[in-house]
Amino acid sequence: MGKVKNLLRGYHYPIEVYSENQRKGGFTQLSLDLSSKCNYRCDWCFNSDILGKDSEDLLSLKEKKCLLEQSIKLGAKTLVIPGTGEPTLDKDFYPLIEYAHELGLTTVVYSNLTGNLDKNLIKKLFENDVSVGVKFDSNCSEYFEKRYHANKKDFHKFFENLQYLSEIYSQSYNPDREVHRVAFNSVLTHENKESLSDLGSWGKGFWAPLFIRPVKPVTWASKNPELWKRLGNKTGGDFPDQELVELAEKHNTLFSPSSTLENHCAIYSFGLTVKNNGDIQICPDHHESRGYFGNVRDVDLKEVMKKLNSQRKIQPGYCVMLPDVKH
Ligand SMILES: C[S@@+](CC[C@H](N)C(=O)[O-])C[C@H]1O[C@@H](n2cnc3c(N)ncnc32)[C@H](O)[C@@H]1O
Ligand code: SF4
Repeated sequence: MGKVKNLLRGYHYPIEVYSENQRKGGFTQLSLDLSSKCNYRCDWCFNSDILGKDSEDLLSLKEKKCLLEQSIKLGAKTLVIPGTGEPTLDKDFYPLIEYAHELGLTTVVYSNLTGNLDKNLIKKLFENDVSVGVKFDSNCSEYFEKRYHANKKDFHKFFENLQYLSEIYSQSYNPDREVHRVAFNSVLTHENKESLSDLGSWGKGFWAPLFIRPVKPVTWASKNPELWKRLGNKTGGDFPDQELVELAEKHNTLFSPSSTLENHCAIYSFGLTVKNNGDIQICPDHHESRGYFGNVRDVDLKEVMKKLNSQRKIQPGYCVMLPDVKH
């Protein structure tokens, strides 16, 4: 992988900050999921099994605010909202980012831009120090309908909100700086690989880096092996085809949309991941470890961090979701 040039604000700290927090038994990123409501049903979604199926014991806004306060005491500088669904659809989303900003945290949110967002709400994101990872895999309306099962209007809403994002966030753009507040976050499949250069041009036009990752075979792939062959591995093997891995590397400056300058996944390596009911797991997409580290409602976070830190493999380019693929 070439020299890393682009970072998303929220993952831009010097490595010493991450290491020092870890040495003290704390963490730098708090990754917190909101409800799993989503207006899409992407064929390969990491969360396809749990979308729209929340338990009744979701953390309340008060509990989430309390978790932010506790996290700051353990060194946290960034609140990451990776989204079990589309985070902007959650009723607590806006109050939470406002509170995070009041406490001095930077927020990073991943969004499909077609949830609860419009020009004024995008201004709110900007004013509350929120960086946005935009789901952007294709500029074809057919792809939105076929692969996201999106409503026809969503394609237009996406480009309208992208335009607002560009206008509002361009105030933060500094051509000499390599820390961005907007990034494009793309999943590469055999069906959208031809549009990569288009996405790259959009990125340049919108002064946003493009983070591309080959589609990962999570639970959806074993349930639909034909789809996995069509999208990720033509012979049905366990990893995305090498062609996709190489294409992603060629167009990418980082291996994940949460990379540090040294190419660590900041959330996995230096974070604490809390699901929407308080369960702790090793990274936002690693559902097998859900609850293995307890639940924030009844554990001491310092004890959890001891256990987590003793089990994590801290190595640049390492992804716990695809441990055998070299990034
Ligand atoms: C789980 S979604 C949640 C936030 C928001 N709804 C969105 O789509 O951006 C976060 C990101 O996970 C990534 N993702 C989901 N399933 C994936 C898969 N099977 N392989 C690789 N990336 C995936 C997509 O890049 C998506 O943008
Ligand atoms: S928009 Fe995001 S959360 Fe919703 S189905 Fe697609 S990848 Fe999953």
